[in-house]
Amino acid sequence: MGAVPPTPADALTRNRKSLLHKVRYALRHPARVPAYVRRFARDAVLRVKFRRDHVGYYRAVMASDAARSVEAAVGDGPSVKRWNWIGQMQFDYLKEHGLVPEDRILEIGCGNLRAGRHFIACLDPGNYYGIDISPDILIAAKHTVVRYELQEKLPYLTVADSLTFDFLPDGHFDVVHAHSVFSHSPLHVIEECFAHVGRILAPGGFFDFTFDRTLGREHHVLREDFYHRTDTLVHLVAKYGLDAEFMEDWEERPHGQSKIRIMHAEPARDHTVPVPAPVPAQDKVPHARVAQDADVVSVAGRTVAP
Ligand SMILES: C[S@@+](CC[C@H](N)C(=O)[O-])C[C@H]1O[C@@H](n2cnc3c(N)ncnc32)[C@H](O)[C@@H]1O
Repeated sequence: MGAVPPTPADALTRNRKSLLHKVRYALRHPARVPAYVRRFARDAVLRVKFRRDHVGYYRAVMASDAARSVEAAVGDGPSVKRWNWIGQMQFDYLKEHGLVPEDRILEIGCGNLRAGRHFIACLDPGNYYGIDISPDILIAAKHTVVRYELQEKLPYLTVADSLTFDFLPDGHFDVVHAHSVFSHSPLHVIEECFAHVGRILAPGGFFDFTFDRTLGREHHVLREDFYHRTDTLVHLVAKYGLDAEFMEDWEERPHGQSKIRIMHAEPARDHTVPVPAPVPAQDKVPHARVAQDADVVSVAGRTVAP
């Protein structure tokens, strides 16, 4: 797949909910109008049925999309080539950030294992846990396990109806990963995740998620695609005593969404602890030398082989 140009600046300020945007879009892409009309009609039915239940709403959207094409349901097109490419991109990023087979991953909204199949292949058996709200998609995920002969890796795949993680143990996961899930989630669903993810994150672990970023007004299109501001999400993370980092190196990738990493907050420095006596100069080891000898470097708080 050729390189995709970076997100143009106006894509970050565009309000896709406005009538003007919709008319312009329809004129530029007339072939996409029937699909939009179909989604519009579906939304009219589902929003009455699932008035205050976004998870129920989106589960029904996934059931309807998956019946047409599973690849299209988890991505923005039915192309297997693109499915492979986006999955590989997610895996390569985590590898570059120090993923090792001993790590334990929770993937939120694992879909049909577009990235999950790479994580499962890389990790030690039993170290991958995928959750999704859609049973239809999880059935497709099992087919992916079979297709790529990953049975020996014993991945866990579970239907979830909330993001409280109440069935998972404390401090268990080194990596929690959610790609293209919060781009389909209103703020209260995201907040539920932030409120609980700290409990299941191992010390030194992190939670990476992507989101559709706007610099303008936060909005959604047909309750399916949500556009959030970075500062909104970062403030929400802080409310639950966690640290957030906007991942600039993800912006270099040809993917339209942005990424934030959440970690346990650094413990506040305790000024009551006495400062240790200075080490005599001849006993000091230069820092650069230590890093070289240990053959490791630190990337975004993790220690990885260079
Ligand atoms: C666009 S797909 C992406 C799937 C996968 N992350 C990938 O990159 O291929 C979004 C997935 O998230 C799931 N999902 C949406 N909201 C969710 C939620 N609140 N909790 C868990 N899964 C959710 C959907 O059912 C769907 O499978």
